[in-house]
Amino acid sequence: MLRPKLYVSRLLPEAVMAVIAARFQLLNHPTPDPPSPVDLAQGLSEAEAAICTLTESITAELLAQAPRLRILANCAVGYNNIDLAAARARGVVITNTPDVLTDATADLTWALMLAVARRITEGDRLARSGAWTGWEPTQLLGADVAGATLGIVGMGRIGQAVARRAEGFGMRILYASRRPVSTGGSAAWQPCDLDSLLGQADFLSLHVPLSAETRRLIGAPQLHRMKPSAYLINTSRGPIVDEEALVAALQAGRPAGAGLDVYEQEPLIHPGLRALPNVVLLPHLGSATATTRMRMGMMCVENILAVWDGRPAPNQVA
Ligand code: GLV
Repeated sequence: MLRPKLYVSRLLPEAVMAVIAARFQLLNHPTPDPPSPVDLAQGLSEAEAAICTLTESITAELLAQAPRLRILANCAVGYNNIDLAAARARGVVITNTPDVLTDATADLTWALMLAVARRITEGDRLARSGAWTGWEPTQLLGADVAGATLGIVGMGRIGQAVARRAEGFGMRILYASRRPVSTGGSAAWQPCDLDSLLGQADFLSLHVPLSAETRRLIGAPQLHRMKPSAYLINTSRGPIVDEEALVAALQAGRPAGAGLDVYEQEPLIHPGLRALPNVVLLPHLGSATATTRMRMGMMCVENILAVWDGRPAPNQVA
């Protein structure tokens, strides 16, 4: 059987590229950088299958120029970068990469939570600066994580993994979720409406997918509802938060700080955020472990091969 013609938008881990070389006719030479719009359109126009990432916007227009495309595997759990309705209309199967990145993303959420509460990046900067004069009773005092109240917005796979870790820290766990929590949830996790959760959380962590309903879910009124001593953590998608409103709120000292992995207009980061010492900023690293990225790539390959074998794609979202 002829090997499917595959377009891959960006270079994936070596083990994944090796499987791709063995199982597909690779149409392009992906690099770590995003493809130019022309290269993306050209690649998709020839492809029977494609692997793209969250940085490629897969529009109806692009799909209309991809007459042979049967499946596009998005190498991410979120798929807000794809026009699903257009894909459905053209019969292009869309898949994502759930589960394999849950733990890595929950770990990173925790890294941000601890970093912002305990002023890790400020401490690191002081330690490297040569200006540290020694231990002080009131130096870089942070906030307690153990025993605090964690408010989780979106109690899907990643929200639940964050909550499980919080149990080890003896936290009170509140969550706001549109859907009922699937099995595996703990009786200690208390459902709550968003408004009341905002007023109670010491740490507010966002885990909803980006959609028309969740865009700017956290704006000026919601930030104002938060405790002045609270911290906002976002490892979901930048546009869930109104970044301009967040900068203004942080400058006004309410909330006390933020740990962010995602931004409204990546790779641009609001200059106001970059100027604030009480904000920990990461360059969208949620799933960035070697094993997780390898598994995500392999999952894309498995989904494409399933479609080629006439089986349902295991992670089909459209
Ligand atoms: C990363 O942000 C993902 O959606 O996988």
